[in-house]
Amino acid sequence: IHEYEGLKLTIEDGAATIQIARPEKRNAMSPALHRGMNLALDAIEAAGGVKVAVLTGTDEVFCGGMDLEKYFLEPFDRPREFRANLAASHGWMRRWKAFAPVTVASINGLCIGGGLLMASLCDIAIAAEEAVFGLSEVNFGIFPAGGTTWAVAQNMTRKHALYYSLTADRFDGRRAAEIGLVSVAVPREHLAAETARVVATLRQKSLDALHYTKRVYERSRTMSFPEAQEWEVAMLLDLSYTTENAWIRDALEKFRRREYRPAESSYLTR
Ligand code: ACO
Repeated sequence: IHEYEGLKLTIEDGAATIQIARPEKRNAMSPALHRGMNLALDAIEAAGGVKVAVLTGTDEVFCGGMDLEKYFLEPFDRPREFRANLAASHGWMRRWKAFAPVTVASINGLCIGGGLLMASLCDIAIAAEEAVFGLSEVNFGIFPAGGTTWAVAQNMTRKHALYYSLTADRFDGRRAAEIGLVSVAVPREHLAAETARVVATLRQKSLDALHYTKRVYERSRTMSFPEAQEWEVAMLLDLSYTTENAWIRDALEKFRRREYRPAESSYLTR
């Protein structure tokens, strides 16, 4: 277990969990916490071979957004300090969005502003049905910034993104799943078990298959179909080359021997 200011990181058996742990401030993200996030990402990369990285909060709070006092109010007349703080938050979020491990948000509760941005950046999001989501920025006279408008535009339809950005209406985990902001919502009492189940499923896959799936998805979605056809084959050959054709030699050979059914489970479980 590594501890950074406002964060706890555990890494075991190819899975990392970052817990935001500033419950007394509703897990608001201070500049120190953003710096801690960069260190946590360094530690996960240094550990090597991590397939899944989970981001979660404490009790009934996932994240109350940016720390409005320490991030905005206090450095208000110290622009260089504010810039440095921005660099720390932008830096780890950019890394997180393109992180090699599969990123999973396990949204246990309150998820406001910058919290919703983090949830959006993850590859998979599992929410407690009781979680409370909201974009509060318009309530204090601004708009979702720092990449949040981009993130909601990517993760919600136009009508949902503008509705929630303009009204700051709060919504629960069930609604978040209905509009596609999260992958699935489960009763809070089952959240830990469901997160563990998804993590276990991912850990049974090939590390390379997970990495390539993410990278190819992010690039392909902005390409034309003919470009994507060529690019996806090129990346498949790249994966085959890098792994010395493990999928043919090992996975498809096991299928030929009827040792597993690809539609039902990973070849690595056999
Ligand atoms: N930044 C800094 N401190 C915060 C934040 C925040 N985002 N959210 C809560 N806190 C602090 C409170 O100041 C309070 O500190 P104190 O005990 O030292 O006075 C403590 O956390 C508890 O907060 P309460 O308001 O007493 O808790 P309550 O459960 O009644 O309300 C709620 C929680 C609804 C989250 C409320 O605190 C709130 O509206 N916070 C702001 C949320 C927000 O708008 N975040 C910014 C989003 S925009 C962005 O991220 C850019």
